Amino acid sequence: MSPAPARRLGVGFIGSGFNARFHMQSWTGVRDADVLGVWSPHPERAAEAAAYARKLDVGRAKAYRSIGDMVADPAIDALWLCGPNQARIENVEEIVDAIERGRGELRGLACEKPLARNVAEASEVIRLVQRVGLRTGYLENQLFAPQVETGRNLIWARGARLTGRPYLARAAEEHSGPHMPWFWQGKLQGGGVLNDMMCHSALVVRHLLTKPGQPLSTVTPVNVSARIASLKWSRPEYARKLARTMSRELDYRRRPSEDFASVTIEFETDDGHRVIGEATTSWSFVGAGLRLSAELLGPEYSMSWNTLDSGLKLFFSREVTGRAGEDLVEKQNAEIGLMPVVANEPMAYGYEAENRHFVRVFQGKAEPLLTFEDGLEVVKILMTAYMSAEQGKTIDFPPRGLGGFSPAVARGKWKP
Ligand SMILES: NC(=O)c1ccc[n+]([C@@H]2O[C@H](COP(=O)([O-])OP(=O)(O)OC[C@H]3O[C@@H](n4cnc5c(N)ncnc54)[C@H](O)[C@@H]3O)[C@@H](O)[C@H]2O)c1
Repeated sequence: MSPAPARRLGVGFIGSGFNARFHMQSWTGVRDADVLGVWSPHPERAAEAAAYARKLDVGRAKAYRSIGDMVADPAIDALWLCGPNQARIENVEEIVDAIERGRGELRGLACEKPLARNVAEASEVIRLVQRVGLRTGYLENQLFAPQVETGRNLIWARGARLTGRPYLARAAEEHSGPHMPWFWQGKLQGGGVLNDMMCHSALVVRHLLTKPGQPLSTVTPVNVSARIASLKWSRPEYARKLARTMSRELDYRRRPSEDFASVTIEFETDDGHRVIGEATTSWSFVGAGLRLSAELLGPEYSMSWNTLDSGLKLFFSREVTGRAGEDLVEKQNAEIGLMPVVANEPMAYGYEAENRHFVRVFQGKAEPLLTFEDGLEVVKILMTAYMSAEQGKTIDFPPRGLGGFSPAVARGKWKP
């Protein structure tokens, strides 16, 4: 007799912003789960996001008055944590508190990157969820991007199998700067572009260097060397622009966050090799829009991925003076000329496959590819990278003192 089908998963969102909406869009390609709830401290925005999910027809979502109320509702089985970085701990505390008081139960908690702003906070998040034995998923969409998945599988199945494992992986995420003021504020966000986007690229290189089906622990970081810089946004005219367009509290002449970061990670592999991951991220890139890219190289093969080589280009002459938007590509910088278009961004960037995966995990049908432990390990690598950039030298991983470390950028003390 075949087993009874698993119950559909009811999912609630914490946060109703840019990222929560990306997840909701992806849900049109997710089976066996519905978006049923949204909470944000701004009730009207939570209501708007719930209406958006209903419009997408991905679930009969409604706004809740608190996180505790979402946990208490038996219709909600799992939460997707998509609030700002500075709210991670309070959000997880509220979830755990509701469970401990017996108000409700959850089958899983998925959390956006970064798991937290530093190692101490990430460890606290893990300690909290362990208190109630919650199953966790760390949301790193780029690992699930269809082209990364397909390219990695083919490289390993053909090239690596016959000629030896890959030895170099590269990844980059670049755009012209975040959409909300809090990302720019080191004290709130936890850093600059290194904290915000290197979490993706540092994990992508390790993932590419890891044989499909093997755990990430088969490719262990041994040292990290990094550099950070403020290339664009501390120039006087751009610092003024930032204060004008984002927040008057931003003073990038005196207290910038890094808008460029580059990291080299040396890994030891369980088959006895030293391999290298090179990652760079920037908020000072000006091109058509967001550019995600990666490469994987080995003795007789290579792979390359670039989301702006999207297969679709549109041309608008100078007569087409349309409004600024993000309808062609995320973080779009132009509306005329020859523009690449990324059709179905939630799929192309990996959200759709990511959410399909974690729904199956929380239904008990699959083992998680990434848990909060992996999120913590990413934070450890990022903090080591900040240490390396601050000290100007390569640092063995994991260094002493990581647990108490907070980057100078996050303390408002960075002087580039
Ligand atoms: N995977 C990715 O590529 C990706 C992309 C963007 C953002 N993110 C991550 O997703 C998270 C949200 O980013 P975003 O771009 O949606 O930001 P955003 O500013 O657009 O949205 C944040 C949302 O959180 C809500 N919020 C405010 N205070 C809160 C609190 N105390 N508790 C819970 N929610 C609160 C806001 O009302 C808003 O709805 C961040 O951790 C960010 O790093 C990931």
